[in-house]
Amino acid sequence: MAQARVRRPELAARFMEAQDAARLFRPGMTVGMSGFTKAGDAKALPRALVERARGEPLDLTLITGASLGNDSDGLMANAGVIARRLPFQADASLRRKINTGEVMFIDQHLSETAEQLRSGVLPAIDIAVIEACAIREDGSIVPTMAVGNSASFVQQAKQVIIELNLAAPVALEGLHDIYVPRPRPGREPIPLTHPGQRIGATAIAVDPARIAAIVVTNSPDSPSSVLPPDTETDAIARHVIAFLEGEVSAGRMTPQLLPLQAGIGTIANAVLHGLTQSSFRGLTMYSEVLQDSAIELLDAGQLALASASSITLSAATHERFIANLDKYRDRIVLRPQEVSNHPEIVRRLGIIGLNTALEFDIYGNVNSTHVGGTHMMNGIGGSGDFARNGELAIFVSKSEAKDGAISSVVPMVSHVDHTEHDVDVLVTEWGLADLRGLAPRERAPVIIEHCAHPAYRAQLRDYYERALLRGGQTPHLLEEALAWHERYRRTGTMQVT
Ligand code: COA
Repeated sequence: MAQARVRRPELAARFMEAQDAARLFRPGMTVGMSGFTKAGDAKALPRALVERARGEPLDLTLITGASLGNDSDGLMANAGVIARRLPFQADASLRRKINTGEVMFIDQHLSETAEQLRSGVLPAIDIAVIEACAIREDGSIVPTMAVGNSASFVQQAKQVIIELNLAAPVALEGLHDIYVPRPRPGREPIPLTHPGQRIGATAIAVDPARIAAIVVTNSPDSPSSVLPPDTETDAIARHVIAFLEGEVSAGRMTPQLLPLQAGIGTIANAVLHGLTQSSFRGLTMYSEVLQDSAIELLDAGQLALASASSITLSAATHERFIANLDKYRDRIVLRPQEVSNHPEIVRRLGIIGLNTALEFDIYGNVNSTHVGGTHMMNGIGGSGDFARNGELAIFVSKSEAKDGAISSVVPMVSHVDHTEHDVDVLVTEWGLADLRGLAPRERAPVIIEHCAHPAYRAQLRDYYERALLRGGQTPHLLEEALAWHERYRRTGTMQVT
């Protein structure tokens, strides 16, 4: 069965066990692995590298598309396989190693990694490990549920290891659109003017001589772990839908809206799920990841087509998706992440970006990555690619965390990922603040009254009113601006008791 998926006969000689392929790695190498938000990740080599590292720490620089599934990031971090990691992760064990300083994490806009590899800013890839569902006659690699940075890794790598996953149907062939921008200077515009347009090849080209090993696997992607919608995420979704309906009524958008992007996680998925309750039809997505909600919208006939770099689904939705692939084939395109997240295209198409904040402040700055200002959660991912360049940057969050001990609306964010200049709309379960066209002094009252939890509003008003007495374009009491975070650290709550 594996042989049938390798359509270039001479490559049959490259079949290898994972532990033998792991011997190709040397300490300190730079490795590019497929995998984006748990989809399309290499399944066997991470575990084989964990075994290999028992003899000697490998201290690899590991570059992926985004987060890996199968606990691979955590296992590799704990075993000393990884010394440096980029551009994104979402694993509890790796997060701990990052926050103790044992692993150096470079938290990057997801559109930038391939560009920095191409220009030589990042060390060149020694070995690429790419999951595939088939290898074509010309040696080209057909990816599985994600494209991520795989095409750029393959272009650059001295050696390529292919993980041929028999659990990924060959029917995925044709879903991908592989276009890699040329080096600068003299680069042509990326010729993409519609979310569903195909501009590249359906497989990743490679010189077959560089394929060092083909390792056979047979395991599905890890299922996504997003939680179902709850009353708060339902309320957030209703506010977003009412706002978008307002944009249509005001004549700023057509009823098909502009192409939607939705970030990872429970809240973004729930908000997109909320669109199934809306009257919008003929929607399009130009996103980096498609979660269950995108498939629901496709099934409901509300989403006409979706473009992304990966598809990350729960087990049940994954089964339905694979069983009905033919139904989705013409409506889904999977692209390299530097194309799915490309600033040029995001601005051209006018994306409505919907991403999640850990906290935001009374002037509209957003922290999506650092808990308490210091400790990494997951990373910025693609949120900055879309927020900075799209037509609308919407950030959503529940108004409180940790049973009310933390307010998500604070006087000053403890870390800034998205500045006030890039943020258009903030939403919590309590309401929505449309910041467009407002000066900082106009934004603060709207954010406090519409978005903050009522339990924290008086505290925020008090801060803002006293800050106003000091004056300024963006009034603050600098000695108190981060006191809320400090109070939480000391007393376990941001509430003044
Ligand atoms: N301070 C401390 N912890 C906070 C917090 C705050 N202000 N706000 C939320 N949290 C905690 C929650 O309590 C929860 O903790 P738990 O896992 O221990 O229960 C955790 O953060 C996740 O929050 P949740 O409310 O469940 O939201 P989510 O699953 O939607 O994740 C982000 C929210 C911000 C962590 C996630 O969306 C993310 O990493 N975003 C950045 C990357 C991104 O936007 N990429 C976009 C394209 S991929």
